[in-house]
Amino acid sequence: MNREDFGMLEENIIYFDNGATTLKPKILGEKVSEYYNQYSANAHRGDYDISLKVDAMYENTRDLVREFIGAKKTSEIIFTSGSTDSLNKIIFGYFKNHLKLGDEVLITKAEHASNVLPWFELQDEVGIKVNYIPLDEHLEVTLENVKKSITKNTKVISIAHVTNVAGDIRPLKEIIKYAHEFGILVNVDGAQSVPHIKVNVEELDIDFLSFSAHKMCGPTGVGIIYGKEALLKETKPIIFGGGMNASYLPDGTRVYDELPTLLEAGTPNIAGVIGFGAVLEYLNKIGMDKIEKKEKELKKYALEKLSEVPNMIVYNDYTKSGIIAFNMKDIFAQDLAIYLNNYGICVRAGNHCSKILKDEIGIKNTCRASFYFYNTKEEIDRFVEVLENPNIKEEII
Ligand code: ALA
Repeated sequence: MNREDFGMLEENIIYFDNGATTLKPKILGEKVSEYYNQYSANAHRGDYDISLKVDAMYENTRDLVREFIGAKKTSEIIFTSGSTDSLNKIIFGYFKNHLKLGDEVLITKAEHASNVLPWFELQDEVGIKVNYIPLDEHLEVTLENVKKSITKNTKVISIAHVTNVAGDIRPLKEIIKYAHEFGILVNVDGAQSVPHIKVNVEELDIDFLSFSAHKMCGPTGVGIIYGKEALLKETKPIIFGGGMNASYLPDGTRVYDELPTLLEAGTPNIAGVIGFGAVLEYLNKIGMDKIEKKEKELKKYALEKLSEVPNMIVYNDYTKSGIIAFNMKDIFAQDLAIYLNNYGICVRAGNHCSKILKDEIGIKNTCRASFYFYNTKEEIDRFVEVLENPNIKEEII
C-alpha cells in the first residue's frame, strides 16, 4: 500500500522497525525543503508577509492535529520535541504541582522509560509512590487488574495506549471511565497508538495524551501534548524564555502568554511542524481505518507463518497491534537482528527502552518486528524464509 510514496522502499530493504520510527514519505522532505528554500522565517514573531505565512502554516498543523485526534480546541494542542519531551512536560509541569507526599501513581512494568523515569524522579522529589498494575498471562492490562490496583491514594494512572514491546492495546475507554469515577486522572502515552489506530481523545475522555510525529511518517523532533483545557491551564511551563511571555520587568514581575504558546518557549521546530501538516493530510487521505486493517492483516499473516518456524518463540501472539516480540531458541536477540540485517531485514533487538518488562515476560532481550501500512505479505514471506534457514546458527557463529 502506497509504497511508491517512500524513497527508502526503492532500496533493497525490508523495514520492520516501525515502532522505533517509520519511514518518511517523499512529501515530507518536499514540504520541509519548501519551508527552508521559500519562506524560512520564524513563527509568532514577525510582522511581515513571510512570517505571517509561517504563522498560518504552523497553526494549520495544530488544527490538523486537533482534528486528527478529535480534540475540541487548538489551545489543547502543544508542540514539543517528541513523546519523551511531552511526558516530561506533563509530569513535571502538571503532576509535580498537583501531587503530594503519599499520593500514588499507577503504571505497568511494560511502560517505556519515558513513562517510568519521570515518575521515579517525582517519587524522590515529592514523595509519591509508583505502583504497578499487574499484566495478565497475555501481557495485557485488564480492567479487573486496574480495579484491584487502585487504592484511596491513587491519583493518576499513566499508561501507554499500545505498548512498544508487547504491543497490547489497552482498554482505555473502560479504564478511563472507571478511573474518573474516583477522580483519578489518566495520562496516556500514545506514541505507539496514534500512528496506528484511530484515537479520539473526546470519545475516550483522555486527560493527557503524548505522541511523536516521527513514528507516523512525520519528522523527528516534533511531538505533541494533548491536554484537556482545564488541566493545561494548571500546567506550569518547565521551559521559560522567548515566545511564551507578553512582558516582564527588572523587578521580576512578568506576564506570560496564554495557551498553547505558553508551553512552547523558544523557536520551535517550524520546518518539522509544517512538514507534519503535510503528513497528516497524507495519512487522512489513506484513512486510519485502512492503516489499522492492513497492520492487523500483516500481524495475523506473520503469526501464522512464524508458528511454523523451528525454534521460534513469540511472546505476544495474543496482542492486537502490528508488533511481534520474538526470539529464537538459543540465539541472542542482537545476534539474530544482525543476522537479519545481513539479508536486508531491519528489526530492533534489546530491551526496547522497557527495562523492567523482563519481570513480566521473564526475558531481558527480544527481537521486535513492527509493521506499518507499507509493509507487505511478500516481505513477511522473505523474513520467514530467512528465519527458516537450517544453517542459521552456523551463519550467526
Ligand atoms: N521508543 C522507540 C521504540 O520502541 C524508540 O523503539
